[in-house]
Order: sequence, then structure tokens, then C-alpha cells
Amino acid sequence: MDRGMIVVLSDRPDRSKPLVDAISAVAECRVVGIDETWERIGPFRGVVADITLSRPEAKTCLRRLARRPGRQRMPLIYLTRSNSQSAFTEARNLGATVCLSAHVEPRLVVGSLVREVWPEKSVADLVVTREIARAGATMTNLLKTAETGLIDMTAVEGGVDPVLDAIHDGGLSRWLDEVWAYDDVTFQHCLLVSGTVAAFALSLRLSQADRQLLTRAALVHDVGKSRIPHAILNKPGRLDDDERAVMQTHAPIGHEILSASGGCDAVTLAVTRHHHEMLDGSGYPDGLSASEISDPVRLLTICDIYAALVERRPYKKPMSTRDALSILSAMDNRLEGGLVQAFAKAVETAP
Ligand SMILES: [Fe+2]
Ligand SMILES: [Fe+2]
Repeated sequence: MDRGMIVVLSDRPDRSKPLVDAISAVAECRVVGIDETWERIGPFRGVVADITLSRPEAKTCLRRLARRPGRQRMPLIYLTRSNSQSAFTEARNLGATVCLSAHVEPRLVVGSLVREVWPEKSVADLVVTREIARAGATMTNLLKTAETGLIDMTAVEGGVDPVLDAIHDGGLSRWLDEVWAYDDVTFQHCLLVSGTVAAFALSLRLSQADRQLLTRAALVHDVGKSRIPHAILNKPGRLDDDERAVMQTHAPIGHEILSASGGCDAVTLAVTRHHHEMLDGSGYPDGLSASEISDPVRLLTICDIYAALVERRPYKKPMSTRDALSILSAMDNRLEGGLVQAFAKAVETAP
């Protein structure tokens, strides 16, 4: 969810790159110079000024910022290169709400910025929000492109690390809390599955390469839903038999899209076609049984069912983790029992 842009006002030769990199981890960030008029920049939530006030243009720029029409108190963090009291006073008089030494670490500036702009949030919350926005942008683009054409698997890469990083740094529950806020059912589902898979793979201590492979597969596993009519996809409540038959085509359709697009690894292809297969042969589209279903598919299937159970829709009561896990345990002839137990442990112990 977009929480607004931060502007860095910089007169440094490197355009304050270390600071901008640190801020970009929590918010969209734009760098401007002291010639900025603030008239055409669009909405923003706060400013970090990494400038020296010795030049008159710098002061003029801050005065123009303070005079922007219709603005409320704008958080303005001023980074001073001199530690004299007069520099702090001058910055305060020019509208600074916080003054810090320009020599403090960028992460401390970010902490201060977050307290000023989003007092109800922690830095970790914002990092997860930002990672979700990145993974989400990949998802939106993927589903949109797949509606009518082929997809570019290299573009999917941009969504993989944000999921893994957010789960590693922020934990599963923070990820779920953020993702539940999204209305779009397929978007929410794919991000729920991806975060759950990333947490499960982390708990199984899989290698980084395997975690990337599984997370990539999770991001695209339902790409075939991009060609299912919205009336079926978004129908509140149960589907009738005909609607269910249409819905079930999303697995082979997804596989076709990926095969035709090219550049897709074998695990992602298998997961996309087979994530609704069950060990007892009762699944679809091919009615595979145990020996024909690979480990990555089994793992994805468990995460997929869990994500579908705990999804948040306006028309139904959310299901607790405990209830969802007991439903998974009861599917013992359809899912691999040992893997379900490991999954329950991963979800229950995930931060
Ligand atoms: Fe599916
Ligand atoms: Fe799914």
C-alpha cells in the first residue's frame, strides 16, 4: 500500500545517495536540488534537507517549501553540517521539524523520518510495506500482461527478493497483516501464497537458490486466473459446478501461458499445472497420484490451500491459523502428512 513519497533536498555531488538508498527501503523517494520550486512535484509526505544553508538559494528553497499553499505542517528533517547552535536555530526558523547532524548514519535519519511522518508505524512495518509494493507491482504487471498475451519471466524476478527479504526481516505475520489489506482477490492470494512459501522454505532451511525457485513459482502459480472471467473469480461464496469447471481451467491455462512465453524453469511449470493435484488422485487437471507429484509441488499445494483458507474477504469471517492448520491435518490422504506437520511448525513458530 502506498504511504506517500519522501523528498530529499540535496546539494551534494552524489545527490545524497546513501541517504536516498536508506529512505528507499521504507518509502518512495525523490531527489531534488535547491532550485526546486515545489510547484509541480506532486504530493509528498515529508522532506529531508541535506543542504548547507550558507547559500542564499538554499534558504529561498526552504522558504518556498514553507509557503506552499494548502499544506499542513510538513515534516522536515534538516541535516546540518555544522554543530553550532545557530545552525540549528536557523534551520528551525526555516521550518525544520527535526535537526540532526549530517554525519549520523542514514538508518538513524530513517528512524527519525518514520517517527515524524508515520508515528504509528515502525521502520520494519514500512520495510515490509515497501517490499509488498515491489512484489505487488510485479504481480499486477504479470496478471495484466497474461490477460491477453505472453509474459516475460525475467520481469518476475523483480518480485522474488522483496518477498524473501520481507519474510526474512519482518516475519510472516507482519506480511500477512499487510497483504490482507488488499482487495483484489488474485493479487492478495498470490502474495499470501508467496509469503507463506518463503516462510516455510526458510523454516526448512532450504538454500537461497531453492527459496528463490519456490517463491518465483508461488508468485506465478495462478497466472492462468488472469484469463478466468471476473464474475467467477470474484464471486462471493461458493461456485456452482459449471463455474467450478471454468475456474479449474486456470491451472492448464497458466501452464500454457508459461510454456508459450518461454524462459520458465521446470519447477514453476510443474507447480503452475499441478498445484491442485492431490496424493490420492482426487485433484485436477490430470488426476495425478502420489508418485507423480514432486516435492516442490506438494509444498506449494500445502501453502496454496492454507493461503486460500486464511484469505480475507469482505463477505466472510476470517479463519484462524489454528483452524486452517487443523483442516490441512485432516487432509492426510491428500497431502503429505510429514510436510503438513513441518508446515504447521513453520507457521506456528514464524515471527
Ligand atoms: Fe490455483
Ligand atoms: Fe493458488
